[in-house]
Amino acid sequence: MKTALITGAARGIGLATARTLLDRGWNVALLDRDEAQLFQAVRDLGEGVAVVADVSDPAQVEDAWDQVSQHFGRLDALVNNAGVADFGPIAETTFDRWRTVMATNLDGPFLMTQAFTSMLAADGGGAVVNITSISGLRASTLRVAYGTSKAALAHLTLQQAAELGELGIRVNAVAPGPVNTKLAMAVHTDDIRAAYHDAIPLNRYGQESEIAEVIAFLVSDAASYVTGQVLAADGGFGATGIGLPSLRG
Ligand SMILES: NC(=O)c1ccc[n+]([C@@H]2O[C@H](COP(=O)([O-])OP(=O)(O)OC[C@H]3O[C@@H](n4cnc5c(N)ncnc54)[C@H](O)[C@@H]3O)[C@@H](O)[C@H]2O)c1
Repeated sequence: MKTALITGAARGIGLATARTLLDRGWNVALLDRDEAQLFQAVRDLGEGVAVVADVSDPAQVEDAWDQVSQHFGRLDALVNNAGVADFGPIAETTFDRWRTVMATNLDGPFLMTQAFTSMLAADGGGAVVNITSISGLRASTLRVAYGTSKAALAHLTLQQAAELGELGIRVNAVAPGPVNTKLAMAVHTDDIRAAYHDAIPLNRYGQESEIAEVIAFLVSDAASYVTGQVLAADGGFGATGIGLPSLRG
């Protein structure tokens, strides 16, 4: 049975992805550092295996490898979804705040993919999906750390695709537009929400399940010749430039 490991799976987009892959018959290991929320999520799902770890800590990543190896002994898909958002002006972004964002959003996918490469390569290869963001595709105020971490993750995706292809490992990224998760609710003010509506041709936030569908496609055999891509699921945000709100009006 195909096995997936999803990081940041205790809630939000990661949990929706776990649900989608379980529905499609995958074994799923759900990894998160929030132990209470993670065990609650696995109880609610009624299936899946909980792996408590912080993706930014090399020792905990090694421990996660041991747990996945013991439970399943194989891995076909790794979804590097765990992420943190911290919006603030450059002048107020202390080095600690910067490092906290980079540690989870960039160090995490580097460490996780490196640790699980040999498990993914065994049995004919596998797939990695890194969750970036539209904030990594276009710049905006307040996102110096978050946006830069996601742009770097998009390039890490290309580096990994270039090097791991020979092992039969495909590596792609999904860049979600805004989705009403706890992460977004914490940093999206009313002004930001209104601006998003203005800038998105579909004129709404995405659903967690709509992002999960794209991730599920990229880890599936239907995407067997797709690697090194950053696929935005953003309601058309990336397509627009100036003038959309006025034209709409
Ligand atoms: N929600 C959005 O609008 C949006 C938009 C674009 C991109 N994204 C990206 O999608 C991903 C999922 O976001 P979400 O909105 O579902 O967030 P969320 O905050 O609802 O869930 C994130 C989960 O990751 C876990 N996590 C955070 N840091 C971790 C670490 N170091 N180790 C292990 N677990 C960790 C958290 O405990 C939480 O359960 C993130 O990478 C985020 O940047 C979200």
